[in-house]
Amino acid sequence: MGGTIGMAGMINGRPRVAEQRILPTVEDTEALGRELAAELGPGDLVVLDGPLGAGKTALTRGLAAGLGVQGRVSSPTFIIARQHRPGAQPGAIGMVHVDAYRLGGNLDELDALDLDSDLDDAVVVVEWGLGVVEHLTDRHLRVLLRREPDSDVRTATWEWVTAS
Ligand SMILES: Nc1ncnc2c1ncn2[C@@H]1O[C@H](COP(=O)(O)OP(=O)(O)OP(=O)(O)O)[C@@H](O)[C@H]1O
Ligand SMILES: [Mg+2]
Repeated sequence: MGGTIGMAGMINGRPRVAEQRILPTVEDTEALGRELAAELGPGDLVVLDGPLGAGKTALTRGLAAGLGVQGRVSSPTFIIARQHRPGAQPGAIGMVHVDAYRLGGNLDELDALDLDSDLDDAVVVVEWGLGVVEHLTDRHLRVLLRREPDSDVRTATWEWVTAS
């Protein structure tokens, strides 16, 4: 693998190759979120993609647990964005959880959310964010969740992507 990583190059010290994992249970999805939270700091954008019911909200629950933010993560489909305040631990940061599904590519509505301000001091996580929010930051953590229709096997693929 070492050679592959070298050839693919690095972004901010991280390998640019996508990582992949099979997620047999919803707990595995949440555990991946907790792990990925360790890579995140204020101003980081997480773009979640995958079909209906793939596990985007479950992964966000793990991110929230890893960051230690306040408030229960729920599917924000009807409220579009939910603010989670930082936890009590030293250096804690907040998280904003957005569901872009109902934005339907409406960039005015996206602007109205003012995610730029949130990115000053929080992590912003966007379900259905692919192709919609990448311009907000120079790079983002892209997580693709897949669910095989026949076998129901779920897989996550993730990588840091630099805006082109
Ligand atoms: N790895 C997994 N294995 C089994 N079940 C899972 C897994 N991940 C999530 N689930 C289950 O799938 C269902 C949908 O999960 P979730 O709400 O996180 O999906 P979603 O991608 O956010 O859906 P939506 O597109 O509606 O926002 C939930 O019941 C959740 O418990
Ligand atoms: Mg969801």
